[in-house]
Amino acid sequence: MYSNLKITRVEESRLGKIDLDNITFGTLYTDHMFVCDYKDGAWQTPEIVPYQPIMMEPSARVFHYGQAAFEGMKAYKDEQGDVWLFRPEENWRRINFSSRRLAMPEFPKEYFMEGLETLIDIDRDWVVPGRGNSLYIRPFIFASEAGVSAAPATEYKFMIICTPVQAYYKGGEVKVKISDYYSRAANGGVGATKAAGNYAASFHPTNKVKEEGYQQIIWTNSTHEYLEEAGTMNVFFRIGDTLLTAPTDDRILDGVTRKSIIKLAERDGLHVDVRKVGVDEVISASRDERLMEVFGTGTAAVVVPITGIGHMDYHYDLPKLEEPYSIKLKNQLLDIQYNAAEDPFEWRYKVDRK
Ligand code: COI
Repeated sequence: MYSNLKITRVEESRLGKIDLDNITFGTLYTDHMFVCDYKDGAWQTPEIVPYQPIMMEPSARVFHYGQAAFEGMKAYKDEQGDVWLFRPEENWRRINFSSRRLAMPEFPKEYFMEGLETLIDIDRDWVVPGRGNSLYIRPFIFASEAGVSAAPATEYKFMIICTPVQAYYKGGEVKVKISDYYSRAANGGVGATKAAGNYAASFHPTNKVKEEGYQQIIWTNSTHEYLEEAGTMNVFFRIGDTLLTAPTDDRILDGVTRKSIIKLAERDGLHVDVRKVGVDEVISASRDERLMEVFGTGTAAVVVPITGIGHMDYHYDLPKLEEPYSIKLKNQLLDIQYNAAEDPFEWRYKVDRK
């Protein structure tokens, strides 16, 4: 052990009392959680403890200045009952990228990997087998220090909680509206991070498009000329036989699913063009029947076909294809995640039994 991780187990698991066949995303949590405090300039001894509420001062800086960031990752159970993570170091790297941008301390890799693996091992019975089931893992960090002066905190908590999940979007597909007013991110801003506030700022615009029958927004750049992300996902467009997706930059999240899908598509010999994608280009491709597919990618959602796009006062339906790229690539990704296929890119990470 690197960190003297302290473990306190529950006396009795709640697992037997729960109907794991009918779960709403993110509503119930496993028996244990990971927590590590930062104070006096250092991360303290990490602990795994029974899942429980935490006590906070009302003046804790996270409530006032939003110093908080999170990650999303998943664990999968294969047919032999072994449990696997998917590219976990990418999440460690990215939460520290988010932390740096929000003036929070970075979390050591050894603490992250050891805490994560031990937690998932202890709660491995919560990883439900079968395609479509997984354990969603939520690492997060926030400013816990009391005090309302607007300055970075000197005390933080890094935690990991886990929730058994099925599909993120009921029905597995969405309709989206292209934003022509609201923006999610700006050059030099925090759009590329998983700052909690990015998601808070998206709720009001998303509620507005929901009133029009859309589930999510396609976020655009500040002039609303280029398509950037779809709701909580990165977004791909297939025009003819070419897959297009925006390059990651200050405004766009470097999605782990996004970059995995790009690799799988390239391996399949598909033409992937990572470049700015114009609103006009996509709308005119739809009018000319060259827009074949649009899909979102993300850890929670995996790969979600977009069946229709709204822009201004118009709605464009996507064609129904026999063999969409989205489903083919999604299945290839899931095969790797569930240990049902070779792993040529070495993305899988086995959670050993201790
Ligand atoms: C994820 O895909 O893991 C995300 O972070 C989206 C989340 C807001 C559910």
